[in-house]
Amino acid sequence: MFAKARTGAIQASVRNAQAAAFSKQASRNMKILAILYKGGEAAKQEPRLLGTVENELGIRSWLESQGHEYLVSDDKEGPNSFLHKNIHDADVVITTPFHPGYLNKELLDKAKNLKLCVTAGVGSDHVDLNIAAEKGLEVIEVTGSNVVSVAEHAVMSILLLVRNFVPAHEMIKRGDWLVSDVARNAFDLEGKVVGTLGAGRIGFRILQRLQPFNCKEFLYYDYNALDPTREKEVNARRVEDLKQFVSQCDVVTVNAPLHEGTMGLINKDLLKHFKKGAWLVNTARGAICNAEDVAAAVNSGQLNGYAGDVWNVQPAPKEHPWRYMQNPLGGGNGMVPHYSGTTLDAQLRYANGTKQILENFFQGKPQLPANVIIGNKGYATTSYGQR
Ligand code: NAI
Repeated sequence: MFAKARTGAIQASVRNAQAAAFSKQASRNMKILAILYKGGEAAKQEPRLLGTVENELGIRSWLESQGHEYLVSDDKEGPNSFLHKNIHDADVVITTPFHPGYLNKELLDKAKNLKLCVTAGVGSDHVDLNIAAEKGLEVIEVTGSNVVSVAEHAVMSILLLVRNFVPAHEMIKRGDWLVSDVARNAFDLEGKVVGTLGAGRIGFRILQRLQPFNCKEFLYYDYNALDPTREKEVNARRVEDLKQFVSQCDVVTVNAPLHEGTMGLINKDLLKHFKKGAWLVNTARGAICNAEDVAAAVNSGQLNGYAGDVWNVQPAPKEHPWRYMQNPLGGGNGMVPHYSGTTLDAQLRYANGTKQILENFFQGKPQLPANVIIGNKGYATTSYGQR
């Protein structure tokens, strides 16, 4: 009884101390950095491009009205960059995965005041999450904000590869009309086996959207099994061995976060186990695939095509092999810049979500549990590897 009362008193005093710390935090002016991508003329003409340096997530006047300092730039690489020069006394860093400010150990060591890293979007691999957890930093993202946007893009990418769309369109723009040149590598999605590596929010939505295509089978590979009702909803069968999984798929779509367990997972050793002529779509993170190995597989025809919007360094250098790879019939490349999750609809959702995260932080309110990647007790998500 006495021990219980004592525990209660200790908990109350911890709560009071936390409340005092939060009210101190709220009353202090914060330095908030945002690393966003340059929008140029397009951002001046289109204010709904909220994720740009020009439009600043639409939160400048709101932050400044509360006395906070808000510094925004796209300059993030190297010791003389804006990010490196400003990190030492920043309280909050916001960055978008479309133009990620890489918060590695070196930078996090310099960031003596940092408390919160916000991802304006989904996917927080640009932060060294293990170091953030060690340092007691919070990493919060706007979970779910663009999962439909990405799922739609992945479905489109699957179709454009299977139907050999890109070479057909390029032929039209060239002024040619050679039906058999493109029809010889065009197929139906009906009757094919489609598998998702990662069956979380995006992977699941891709399978949902593919239901009417009469595919032969839907497979998934994920250490987190779907519950039976959800498995049934998308007619999916789980395959627990990765090699067996890829060897059964005509189409593989990658939808797992980038972490120690997925970095370079799709490399020449695994590609040997893919069906000859399979299609691979990756809208998750470029570094999940080995760039050279994937390009070689497409160039040789081991893969009939690869499509996606994510690259192992962003912006991707001009000489990146994924810009130029093509299958032996001149198609099979569906690469675009990282934009699937940054439709105008998605930008509004992740800008609003970022504002809500900051508001919770200023007021000492709990964050939405689904948004917490690293919380005050370390990893709060099961999506970044089994630990
Ligand atoms: P989620 O957290 O809902 O689902 C991820 C799933 O991947 C989880 O079920 C997890 O168990 C699984 N997973 C993790 N490691 C795995 C492994 N080694 N093998 C198999 N499965 C594994 O995440 P959500 O919302 O579906 O997003 C997934 C990823 O997509 C994000 O982390 C991000 O990197 C990427 N993304 C890309 C966008 C774009 O614009 N291209 C936009 C949004 C997200």
